[in-house]
Amino acid sequence: MMKIKMRVLSWFLSLICAIRTEGLLVRGPAMPLLVQLGASVTLPCSVDTPIPLHELVVLWMRDSGSLVHLFLGRESRPESQSPAYSGRAEFFTEEISKGNFSLLLRNVTTEDKGMHKCVVQTEQESSEANVTIDTEWLAVTGADVPVFAYAGEDVILNCSVDTHVPLGELEVEWMKTNEEIQVLLFMEGQYRPESQPERFRGRAEFFSEEIPKGNFSMKLRDVKTEDRGEFMSIQTENQSMQRHTYKNRVFPIGI
Ligand SMILES: *[C@@H]1O[C@H](CO)[C@@H](O)[C@H](O)[C@H]1NC(C)=O
Ligand SMILES: *[C@@H]1O[C@H](CO)[C@@H](O)[C@H](O)[C@H]1NC(C)=O
Ligand SMILES: *[C@@H]1O[C@H](CO)[C@@H](O)[C@H](O)[C@H]1NC(C)=O
Ligand SMILES: *[C@@H]1O[C@H](CO)[C@@H](O)[C@H](O)[C@H]1NC(C)=O
Ligand SMILES: *[C@@H]1O[C@H](CO)[C@@H](O)[C@H](O)[C@H]1NC(C)=O
Ligand SMILES: *[C@@H]1O[C@H](CO)[C@@H](O)[C@H](O)[C@H]1NC(C)=O
Repeated sequence: MMKIKMRVLSWFLSLICAIRTEGLLVRGPAMPLLVQLGASVTLPCSVDTPIPLHELVVLWMRDSGSLVHLFLGRESRPESQSPAYSGRAEFFTEEISKGNFSLLLRNVTTEDKGMHKCVVQTEQESSEANVTIDTEWLAVTGADVPVFAYAGEDVILNCSVDTHVPLGELEVEWMKTNEEIQVLLFMEGQYRPESQPERFRGRAEFFSEEIPKGNFSMKLRDVKTEDRGEFMSIQTENQSMQRHTYKNRVFPIGI
């Protein structure tokens, strides 16, 4: 009889434990978040049943152990944040009482790439969710079709860069790949015509007024037969030194 009672008791206890752990299921995103450098992102983290604020602790941490943000004693604690996150990470204050501990992270850098943990603690228990950030550099688009032109005509080689990286930190270079010569260079926020070889001087240029929109297309005037070949635009962000390339081909035809 005693044995049965013990069994029932232990079954009952394990049931309580199961309920307890299920009670604090912290939800994060199912997939890594893909974020463009310089942009803002919401790192999702929530529980289904709101937790009384007086017993709630939420820690957002990096895998390195540095503290991204903290909610403790009914308040968020910006003073405890690691300097790298100061002024950059915020809770949605009104959402916390609803069990939503998502974090808004601004001005994402390559350093933010990697795992983040949202640790939720109550008086009795603690549980966590993982949130992984992948950074994406630039989205570069252009038309991947060859451009045909008669000698003497002007052509436009399209290249658009969608980025949150400030223009001053972006380098865009147009190269003629088969001859490995630089045709055009944009660096430190400016067009650098002095680096242009004689052959392209006054013939190849950016549309200056279009650059702030991310349009780094190249205009090539008075196409010559020796221009035949492949032109490549190379975008580099000077901090991460990540490169992205985009190719255009020009086929001057006839004379
Ligand atoms: C975030 O970026 C914006 C624009 O680039 C800048 O004005 C702001 O100071 C940055 N904020 C932080 C906290 O770095
Ligand atoms: C948490 O709040 C943020 C900001 O309002 C919102 O985008 C997100 O959908 C909310 N998450 C949940 C689970 O309600
Ligand atoms: C979060 O990631 C760590 C390390 O990869 C892992 O040990 C832990 O089980 C993960 N937690 C969840 C809730 O997936
Ligand atoms: C360049 O882009 C513009 C705008 O997207 C488009 O209208 C034009 O056809 C493109 N030119 C080439 C040669 O792809
Ligand atoms: C870039 O600007 C030039 C000049 O306004 C325009 O002809 C071209 O279509 C633009 N390219 C894109 C991709 O918007
Ligand atoms: C990137 O370029 C900008 C503008 O030239 C410069 O102010 C900044 O210091 C550069 N950053 C690095 C890491 O080289």
